Amino acid sequence: MAGVSPNKRDNFGSKFGVIAAAAGSAVGLGNIWKFPYELGNNGGGAFLVFYLIFVAMIGIPVMIAEFTIGRNGQKNPIGSFKFIKPGKPWFLVGVMGVGAAFMIFAFYGSVAGWTLEYLFQSFKGGFEGKNPDELNSMFTTFVEDPIRPIVWQVLFVILTTSVVIAGVKNGIEKYTKILMPVLVVIILILVVRSVTLPGAGEGLKFLFKPDFSKINATVILSALGQAFFSLSLGMGTIITYGSYINRNNNLGTTAIQVSIADTLIAILAGVAIFPAVFAFGINPSQGEGLIFVTIPTIFEQMPGGYFFSILFFILLAVAALTSTISLLEVIVSYFSEEYKISRKKAALISSSIILVLGILCTMSNGGVLKDFKIFGYNIWGLLEFTSADILLPLGGFFIVIFVGFFMGKKRVTDELTNNGTLKAKLLPVALFLIRFVAPVGIALVFLNVIGLLKF
Ligand code: TRP
Repeated sequence: MAGVSPNKRDNFGSKFGVIAAAAGSAVGLGNIWKFPYELGNNGGGAFLVFYLIFVAMIGIPVMIAEFTIGRNGQKNPIGSFKFIKPGKPWFLVGVMGVGAAFMIFAFYGSVAGWTLEYLFQSFKGGFEGKNPDELNSMFTTFVEDPIRPIVWQVLFVILTTSVVIAGVKNGIEKYTKILMPVLVVIILILVVRSVTLPGAGEGLKFLFKPDFSKINATVILSALGQAFFSLSLGMGTIITYGSYINRNNNLGTTAIQVSIADTLIAILAGVAIFPAVFAFGINPSQGEGLIFVTIPTIFEQMPGGYFFSILFFILLAVAALTSTISLLEVIVSYFSEEYKISRKKAALISSSIILVLGILCTMSNGGVLKDFKIFGYNIWGLLEFTSADILLPLGGFFIVIFVGFFMGKKRVTDELTNNGTLKAKLLPVALFLIRFVAPVGIALVFLNVIGLLKF
């Protein structure tokens, strides 16, 4: 039988499989596309400092909390809250998460489609002999094309849907385990080329030398949103994956390992990109096109660039795929478990809705709906801002409050120590971060944005 029946739950096969799948969800376009351009837009090194603080003090505790809810609830995000606290409104946090999954997949699928176009161009030798300016107009022409980006996006959503229908073990775990390490290797090769370019030092300075005069409330909010986005937190992805984790897995260590891997890859992507950005005189705050201009430029300067570029865009597409799988899995596990429909039906219905929303997004990014604005944002910008910068941190806030104060201390401790079989020396630290540091941190960032509090 293909797929998983709604009542018999599939599990991850091995310990490394769990880490690979959660890291596969976390590592994606968020690290390689979004992190560099957010950092470029938000002034460089100072953004990185806030980002790292948020990952350590807020991201890791939220991830531990999500794993705890998922493995304890043994269900999708909404079902898990309902199981742990029946008859209470906590399941609404899960509802918010499922909503955010639709929104994120909509614009994420669009960028994922771009990676396929760039893979296609790599094969065709489409970057050959082009300077950064020409690569820039190549990018703009492509995203403003009324048809092409949509075709790739549709293809990508179909790919994701097929893997999700195949089920957790066969679909998700198998591929991630092999391909993630290869991605790291190729980023390392890019790093070496980038930092040895003449003029690379400026880029490293931009990345690692914090200029705190560039910091304001929006920059801080973006760093928090980016931490949630990159670690796949705040909307139940990790709750869902937590529900597939075996009873003997150490949730705390898994969360720490996944977060460290994700952060290292984001930093590596930064080290691959910014030296080249400065060496070639590319504008670091040019936004969404940043890596699509910079990376082909680096490959143009490299022996074997043709092959590396093919390999890179294959792996980037795969990294995006393991992330979209995790987004769709949240929605599918919810519909199939709570409404007792097959995974296949749930996947087909939800990906159709995502496609409609996603195509609107794509059209607003340069195509037909370019000038259609809501609150000053186009459809794309509105979905990206509302989901990443608002809904994820808000979801994360309620998740840590829930685990910290409402789930019951015994339940949480049992889950984090595997019923007392683990020593878990850091448990008190984890609980302190979950109960106090993380929620207060998120609240301060929000109050700072609304202007109720000024640092
Ligand atoms: N973290 C992924 C990335 O960095 C994107 C992603 C997958 C995600 N699942 C998520 C983001 C859940 C937020 C919430 O590319």
